Amino acid sequence: MQADLEQSVDRPGAARAVSRRKALQILGLGSGLVAVSGASGLTWRAVEGGVFSTGTGSAYDAWGRSKPGGHTLNLVNAAILAANAHNTQPWLFTVSDDRIELFSDMSRTIGAMDPLLREMQISLGCAVENLALAAAPNGMTAKVSLLPVPYDATHIATVSLAPAPASGSALFDAIAARHTNRGGYDTTRPVTGRQLDALSALVDAPATQLVWFTTNTQKRAFSDLTVRATQAIIADPQQAADDYRWYRSDWHDIQLHKDGITIDPSGQSALIRALSKLLPTTRKQDDDGWLSGTRDTQLPTAAAFGALVVRDPHDPLQRLQVGRIWQRMHLAATTEGLGMQPLCQIPERVDRETSAGLAPDVTEAVAAMLPADSHAIMTFRIGYPTAAALLSPRRPAGDVVRA
Ligand SMILES: Cc1cc2nc3c(=O)[nH]c(=O)nc-3n(C[C@H](O)[C@H](O)[C@H](O)COP(=O)(O)O)c2cc1C
Repeated sequence: MQADLEQSVDRPGAARAVSRRKALQILGLGSGLVAVSGASGLTWRAVEGGVFSTGTGSAYDAWGRSKPGGHTLNLVNAAILAANAHNTQPWLFTVSDDRIELFSDMSRTIGAMDPLLREMQISLGCAVENLALAAAPNGMTAKVSLLPVPYDATHIATVSLAPAPASGSALFDAIAARHTNRGGYDTTRPVTGRQLDALSALVDAPATQLVWFTTNTQKRAFSDLTVRATQAIIADPQQAADDYRWYRSDWHDIQLHKDGITIDPSGQSALIRALSKLLPTTRKQDDDGWLSGTRDTQLPTAAAFGALVVRDPHDPLQRLQVGRIWQRMHLAATTEGLGMQPLCQIPERVDRETSAGLAPDVTEAVAAMLPADSHAIMTFRIGYPTAAALLSPRRPAGDVVRA
């Protein structure tokens, strides 16, 4: 049965070339000869596999808890909904009445997929932004100090809180509505220059710039290099294995761990999602699906691509600032009905080339697309979604707050 699956869907954006007819055959539903016992077995597997439970269960409860309530813990409830690479949720918090400390959880790295911890630090920056945005609606002001202890690289931020009259904000309201959208975007609906400028205006760090790729030539160059980087990752056994480690396909595992990359937010059709919950897939199938989803759906339907670039790609402070900016941009885009998806194969491959001493293939190619002395540390696509993005799991605040 598994051999019948032409491509896999376990990765975000993986697109499987399984026709509906073939899918029904695989499920044994196409022939009309399904024995009652077989059908009920299939139903049992579908229930067990979470086919009918998308976005439900304790793995998803956190999405309903980001509401103002005047307590410091409400800020953590917002922080844990931040975007984060591979959904590793690499954060730990300590909480008191007037202060939240944020630390990186070094047990939650992505190995050769993020060898220089760039993505981990950007992810922590995303969480800082949500913390800061959640202060005012909870009746507080927040003063953020990044990397407050020079000798402790794991101490990411101190957020000092003071009482203030509560006030709402559209960005705060978007926190629980923001999701990475990996489906096809609407190719008939352009994103205007004014909309892109509004996102550029959210960049507030001196060493950071937002570079847009909007012309056909620029978009082709970005797409070609993203495909090349994806192929290079797949062909690199260590990088591909470390990538795969964070993919979760078992429904019970998802409910238990509440993290990782899952099929529901992959942008795939309901049928393909159901299939992937029913049938185990191999890494090869996953890799093929990742490549085809990126090449055939995500890249060609993007209205534009963007890159957040910095002067020093290894500086933790610049990475944290980029994380804050990315989260803010994604929230602002959400309020406009826009979809966004990080597509980070290019910087992932650059970091791998650097750390493993490989030939600087992607490194040199991306440098040629950017202003001099700038380095892309977060690359993404934008457009109007054709379908709503589904939820990814989250560990609740109780699991990530230290005594
Ligand atoms: C630094 C960083 C890199 C990411 N890279 C990718 C990527 O290359 N492809 C992708 O589909 N999503 C990527 N994501 C999105 C995460 O997978 C996503 O935020 C996470 O799974 C949680 O899902 P959510 O954003 O819907 O809450 C990235 C996010 C961050 C912060």
